[in-house]
Amino acid sequence: MSRSRSDSKRGSIPSMETTGDALTEETVIVVLGASGDLAQKKTFPALFALYQQGYLPKDVHIVGYARTKMDLDEFYRRETKYIKKNENDVELAKTFDAKLSGFKKISSYISGQYDTDEGFQELREHLEKLENERSGSKSPRNRVFYMALPPPSSPSSPRPFGKDLESSREMMTALKAEWAENETYRIDHYLGKEMIKNMLVLRFGNVFLDACMNRNFISNVQITFKEPFGTEGRGGYFDEFGIIRDVCQNHLMQTLSVLAMERPVSFSAEDIRDEKVKVLRCIPPIDKKDVLLGQYVATGDKPGYLDDDTVPKGSHCPTFAAMVLWVNNPRWEGVPFIMKAGKALNESKVEVRVQFKDATSGIFNDIARNELVLRVQPSEAVYMKMNSKLPGFQTRAVTTELDLTYKKRFTDARIPQAYEALILDALKGDHSNFVRDDELDVAWKIFTPILHWIDGKQGEAPNPEPYAYGSRGPKLIDEFSSRYGYKRTEDDYTWPQTSVEQVEKASL
Ligand code: BG6
Repeated sequence: MSRSRSDSKRGSIPSMETTGDALTEETVIVVLGASGDLAQKKTFPALFALYQQGYLPKDVHIVGYARTKMDLDEFYRRETKYIKKNENDVELAKTFDAKLSGFKKISSYISGQYDTDEGFQELREHLEKLENERSGSKSPRNRVFYMALPPPSSPSSPRPFGKDLESSREMMTALKAEWAENETYRIDHYLGKEMIKNMLVLRFGNVFLDACMNRNFISNVQITFKEPFGTEGRGGYFDEFGIIRDVCQNHLMQTLSVLAMERPVSFSAEDIRDEKVKVLRCIPPIDKKDVLLGQYVATGDKPGYLDDDTVPKGSHCPTFAAMVLWVNNPRWEGVPFIMKAGKALNESKVEVRVQFKDATSGIFNDIARNELVLRVQPSEAVYMKMNSKLPGFQTRAVTTELDLTYKKRFTDARIPQAYEALILDALKGDHSNFVRDDELDVAWKIFTPILHWIDGKQGEAPNPEPYAYGSRGPKLIDEFSSRYGYKRTEDDYTWPQTSVEQVEKASL
């Protein structure tokens, strides 16, 4: 996303409270790629949610731009295709219809190419007309360009920024010719997720957590991304990228950097991003001996990855990857950060699991480890697995939890979608939750060597381990995680509630 405004403030928000920041009236938001999937599924619904709640600037206008020729009615149909009324939110549901027609009224569409001047000239005239109608020739103009565009090499997905260090640098140089860094808001939508945004407060606002988040107390950290569906319908796109570019190098790496960074001097954008870059620079490129790759195969009526006609025959593309990253600084040296991501697995889940070291033996024979779990989705929660005496006459330790489940604790809170939060931040000129150029560069340095190995650029491409659609991943995954010190203690423990009866039954 880019924003052109002569007086754009360079992201320095002195406190975390951003809702009081002024929005620039009469902003025009241009959505490039307006007929594509990302715009329809994410950008327009997010813009509508902000509009519906009164968060967009006064007199805002939204202009869609794409190659598809269509009249306004067709554009409105596509713009609002994925916008749904939420009946559970009684207040917003009441005004939904009126707001939806208001949203269409502030929207318009221009069709044009991306590689010729014609369409863009038409777009400029359209913007000037809109702006002149509202405020004469008054300046500065405030225009936000939301680029929901695919990179030139891939027709259907805009997500990874480049394919490796070199191509990312090329894209960066091309963009920099047009937009200064302080006008650029590089989206990684994970940074807009509520739990990722909470990590700074959890870590640095709680003395007890801050004190133990280091190599003296922590055995290992797992960052897990699981999806229960395969690449159905977009195997062609996916094959060019693979799971590591699709979610690890970007989303999970951003999660890791926020989790592992040192305390920033302030909550201002540059202070936060400086710390993220610093911690990323302590991570050496991933070693291929620390990597496990997988590819799903058919089970029952579920197709395997290679059964998709758009996937090249015999593709080695990983749909699952587990890898270990090492953060070589005084806080984390020797603590493995195990990153796991996969498609077509047994559940839908994104979580961070910080596993503590064993309690010293002596009085306990076998006691479970403490674990701090940050569940990013579904249903945000933070819980700490903690040992406690089972109530009753005997002295037996059982695993219990300190539980902060958002739905129970923040019953009335409406948690914004990641894209809503990010668009609002950009409108306010706050860069904190956007990826800075140097962050992206370091992240690619960490991943490029293994990506080239997987792409077969260093000899034959490695063979991913097959795993069944709907399973927990390749059979070797538990052995892999335990090699890096992770102890799985799920057998007699079910979160969120374990009754005394359950525990007793489990230990019979
Ligand atoms: C995208 C990937 O960037 O992130 C998708 O391209 C993935 O493959 C998605 O499904 C996950 O995002 P979320 O918000 O659903 O966890």
